[in-house]
Amino acid sequence: MKSVAIMTSGGDAAGMSPAVKCCAEYLWSKGCKPFLVHDGLNGLIDDKITEAKPEDVSGIIHRGGTVLRSCRSERFFDIAHRTTARDNLKKHGIEGIIVIGGDGSFSATNQFYSDFQIPFAGIPATIDNDIAGTDYCLGVDTSLNVIRQAIDSIRDTADSFNRAFVIETMGRHCGYLAMTSALATGAEVCLVPEIDYDLDSIGNRLRSEVDNGRSYLIAVVAEGTQMGSYLTRWITDTIGMDARLTVLGHIQRGGSPTVYDRIMAYKFSVAAVDGLLSGEKNQIIVYKEGSFGTVPISTVADSHAKIDPTLINLCTPLCH
Ligand code: F6P
Repeated sequence: MKSVAIMTSGGDAAGMSPAVKCCAEYLWSKGCKPFLVHDGLNGLIDDKITEAKPEDVSGIIHRGGTVLRSCRSERFFDIAHRTTARDNLKKHGIEGIIVIGGDGSFSATNQFYSDFQIPFAGIPATIDNDIAGTDYCLGVDTSLNVIRQAIDSIRDTADSFNRAFVIETMGRHCGYLAMTSALATGAEVCLVPEIDYDLDSIGNRLRSEVDNGRSYLIAVVAEGTQMGSYLTRWITDTIGMDARLTVLGHIQRGGSPTVYDRIMAYKFSVAAVDGLLSGEKNQIIVYKEGSFGTVPISTVADSHAKIDPTLINLCTPLCH
């Protein structure tokens, strides 16, 4: 395989831009011709495909979001558009694709593989950390640092005003961001889809802490629980503490990638290029217990990501 397209797809995540750079540069080092697909899956359909030049990938390692831009493409569900995409790749002589994105993007690319047998390798990149088979997805560390900084700032106001703050994190149906940031910021409460919570018991615990001098509190809630507004009212009514809700929203997606995300981008990229060049057809690169490997797309599509049981155990007291 000589010509390989690099594409970012789905929600942007810090680490995507470094991965684009690393994939292109590693492909050159292997004597291959990298191409860049702009605007995600829509760019495949609209032929926004250019051969990568060194200047396209220089000065981008610190960039958040994705320098290739991205989208969630409705059109790619339509075989007529996928056929156009195949024709575009053929026109450029492209034989394989590296897709940097989440499980939705991998499923779409796998459909494309079933249609036209164009091999691809997937690099997990989503702040949600919800891709089955991998312990880590690009963007998670950067997002956690943004959340940590926001909660540390909110704590200053909570402390100064004797207030409760409920902070809602992203993550779609996955509570990884909420759990990790609740622990890292010393939150008193954490509600996530993965752990049963008990408001009565949380109420008893908090009331007793207030009786013993607690003057403010921080609760982190995963968006997947849809409990943000309810918990804020509940704290005012049940604990008797003035409470505010902060929905962190899209600030969690952006920002310059942390050192960890940049280094992980290198490692994922090398594994993706090596996998494709060694003849793998539709594999996702995974990082598991400290090593890189590949899993078939079916592993990712057919199962849910499992959260580290140690993290669950550490968070459980915050749910009761
Ligand atoms: O998948 C990343 C993510 O940021 C989720 O955490 C969130 O639920 C969703 O995307 C938001 O999507 P959009 O940016 O399309 O509103």
